[in-house]
Amino acid sequence: VLASLKASCYHGCMKRILTGVAPSGNIHLGNYVGAIAPLLSLQTEPDTELFVFIADLHGLNQVQDPTLLRQYSRDIAAAYVASGLDAQNVTMFRQSDVSAHSELAIILSSITPLGMLERAHAYKDALANGKKVSLGLFAYPVLMAADILLYKADTVPVGDDQQQHIEYACDLAQKCNSLYGTSLALPQALKQSSGSLPGIDGRKMSKSYANTLPLFEDLAALEKKIMRIVTDSSLPSDPKDPENDTVFALHKALGTPNIHDLATAYRSGTISHHQSKQLLYEQLIRFLQPIQQKYQELTSNGSLLDAMLERGAERANTVAQSTLAEVRQAVGLR
Ligand code: ADP
Ligand code: TRP
Repeated sequence: VLASLKASCYHGCMKRILTGVAPSGNIHLGNYVGAIAPLLSLQTEPDTELFVFIADLHGLNQVQDPTLLRQYSRDIAAAYVASGLDAQNVTMFRQSDVSAHSELAIILSSITPLGMLERAHAYKDALANGKKVSLGLFAYPVLMAADILLYKADTVPVGDDQQQHIEYACDLAQKCNSLYGTSLALPQALKQSSGSLPGIDGRKMSKSYANTLPLFEDLAALEKKIMRIVTDSSLPSDPKDPENDTVFALHKALGTPNIHDLATAYRSGTISHHQSKQLLYEQLIRFLQPIQQKYQELTSNGSLLDAMLERGAERANTVAQSTLAEVRQAVGLR
């Protein structure tokens, strides 16, 4: 009782931010820029409570190799902590450790119109690309709504492609509240404004395009990838446009010092693509080495990470079970 009182008090006086990350591949620099870095700045906001979970039930839709799913899940947790997420103050947990997610999803599915799911972008894209669509993928927005509504989250930081899912969560909360008198909070999407980071082929960095710079790859392999970054065919002494250059975009994302001087060197043709790539690799080492070192510590002592996730699951369960109890009561379950 005390624990649930504490949970509701927290929420009464704090803004609650929640986000999930699906363990669907090796975590990469694009994920860092678009998802990890913005969260690191949110964790220091006053009067804010942060929930971050590894959406492993969602991951099942993409990864059907159990060893890989476990590895990706642990890597996400390790990546967040190695990058500076304070697991003592942030509730970080595995979605599958909190069974209320699955149960609320089943309850919400009874009030989810089929047409709503048929209009979902992710489902339509999968169909358009000739992918086999499972029930899990089709019902993905319902589970995602449950993920959010269980915690009565005020704000959900997500990328552009997830906005529609947040709207669906609002629709389902409203429907449940008006039909059953529950008090589910309507979440607001917090749009990440960083834009997308290009991958080594110039398209958006994404594991689907195999063009990523993975955070935990060894540095020699990363160096080769950097040297393969696609650039235009200008000669070393030609002026170059930094705003249309993948290497320069990566410099900006990695916080290369004296970036204005580098832009000037591009425009005046005093730097070649090859030299810029060498500088980028040096910056990547400075940026990644401390993260990779912390990652090694965390993964070589797996119990540290497990303990963090267990503590997180305990706190998450307290909050989630309290919402689930309210919904169960309201809809007429025991
Ligand atoms: P992927 O495209 O590799 O499959 P996900 O869709 O799993 O990546 O993205 C997980 C998170 O990382 C999302 O918040 C997404 O917005 C962010 N993200 C992924 N790729 C990039 C990128 N290239 N630039 C910025 N953010 C990205
Ligand atoms: N669908 C999100 C993605 O692919 C991950 C996710 C699952 C999520 N449940 C969530 C994000 C709840 C925010 C809130 O990026």
